[in-house]
Amino acid sequence: MSKLLLIDDEEDVRYSFQRIFGSPEIELATASSGEEGLKVIPKFKPDLVLMDVRMGGMNGLETLRRIRASNPKLLVILMTAYGTTQTAIEAMKLGAYDYLLKPFDVPKLKEIVANALKAARDMRQVVSYEPLLESEDYELGIVGRSEAMQQVFKLIGQVAATDATALITGESGTGKELVARAIYHHSDRSQQAFLAVNCAAIPEQLLESELFGHERGAFTGATLQRIGKFEQCNQGTIFLDEIGDMTPATQTKILRVLQSGTFERVGGNQPIQVDVRVIAATNKALEQAVAAKEFREDLFYRLNVVRIHIPPLRDRRDDIPLLVNYFLKKIAREQQRPPKSAATSVTRTLEKYHWPGNVRELENIIRRAYVMAKGDAILQSELPPEISGQSGGGAPPPVSGVAGDAVTADAAAMARQLFQWARRDPKLKVIPAVERELVIQALKETNNNQVHAAKLLGITRATLRKRIEKFGIQRELNVK
Ligand SMILES: Nc1ncnc2c1ncn2[C@@H]1O[C@H](COP(=O)(O)OP(=O)(O)OP(=O)(O)O)[C@@H](O)[C@H]1O
Ligand SMILES: [Mg+2]
Repeated sequence: MSKLLLIDDEEDVRYSFQRIFGSPEIELATASSGEEGLKVIPKFKPDLVLMDVRMGGMNGLETLRRIRASNPKLLVILMTAYGTTQTAIEAMKLGAYDYLLKPFDVPKLKEIVANALKAARDMRQVVSYEPLLESEDYELGIVGRSEAMQQVFKLIGQVAATDATALITGESGTGKELVARAIYHHSDRSQQAFLAVNCAAIPEQLLESELFGHERGAFTGATLQRIGKFEQCNQGTIFLDEIGDMTPATQTKILRVLQSGTFERVGGNQPIQVDVRVIAATNKALEQAVAAKEFREDLFYRLNVVRIHIPPLRDRRDDIPLLVNYFLKKIAREQQRPPKSAATSVTRTLEKYHWPGNVRELENIIRRAYVMAKGDAILQSELPPEISGQSGGGAPPPVSGVAGDAVTADAAAMARQLFQWARRDPKLKVIPAVERELVIQALKETNNNQVHAAKLLGITRATLRKRIEKFGIQRELNVK
């Protein structure tokens, strides 16, 4: 359950919020002035505050200043009518999370609130990483007893105590975000904000402005000034996820901010000084990107000072039984249902599988099996066939499914053609272009069934989702 506090002096607004957010998952409290809001906060302990900018008595900006002074981690979204936008922008400099223009577009409002609540949850839920015992009850932890994970824990402990930039690497689903949050929670900045930016999910041309803000008129469409995440997150920690996906201009700015703590907004010429701790993550081989001149070498070295590499799950199979138990407990608690256990044969089967989607895939499989299991134990028959061995056992499938000379030859022929096409047009980004088309075709073919589409493409569902997001395919197919 999430707690939301609305501070607005208009009764109508308070009433409509009650209607919009009246759900079992959200508890809404209201206050009719800044003064009242400040009194409610320590008692109600909201996860998120939505506040009008212009109110009788103490205005929104002043209220925000006081909230930030006493609760630097509390997220505040300002609501503003046309004409007070500049104040809302000022508020972003003070660390407001976002602002909304009145009159509200309800779906947009709900989306912003949902995103903010997720960010608030990430800040609140402490991720523990101490070697966890099976019997222990923990809300959110990094589970692992393997040699490799012990090493990861050690590094988290070492880097958390410093202000150093950390680079977390590992395949998709290995727990990079979890590690980033553990570092934050155990650092001196744990009482300040933590903001995550997924660099791959934001269109290239917008990322720079998302991170550093822009001045009014910096480019077509920049009708208002915008405050970026670095400025907003001053004193706090910023998590740059998928850092491998950045334009050279953004890379240059990141390098400068790491070296000197300064940057300029897009289209601006005034240096802005910030104090932000950066944690970065990627599932790309950055060394290769450097070799291919896609990623700045100096930035790579600057990031790579503290490197935490999380090995794939198939290289630390002794963590699997522990993870299985952990997820079974976690799911039972979430669903408020009795715990279930896994039959020994099930755990053994899971230990043998090669887990291309790593821990995330394991969690999903356990989630599915938990729902399917009728009794209080999970049986072999509740595992999907590719894992339970009915379709070829636990051995890995042939490499990316292209084994066999005929297939390889076909692929090579098609690649040759595509490459010719790419050579004719140097501006063309052939791999993303082809990937995008493949994803669209697979989704059309399967009637938007992501599981089937991913299988057809030989990628995990998580990867498929990322591509859908990255290429903005959702809108095109009009899929939910
Ligand atoms: N060691 C672990 N113990 C407990 N849960 C884990 C562990 N590793 C990963 N998870 C869980 O698996 C899921 C995926 O983890 P996370 O999002 O941190 O992966 P990631 O490396 O950031 O993946 P991606 O590259 O796809 O973004 C999350 O639900 C996370 O809580
Ligand atoms: Mg991640």
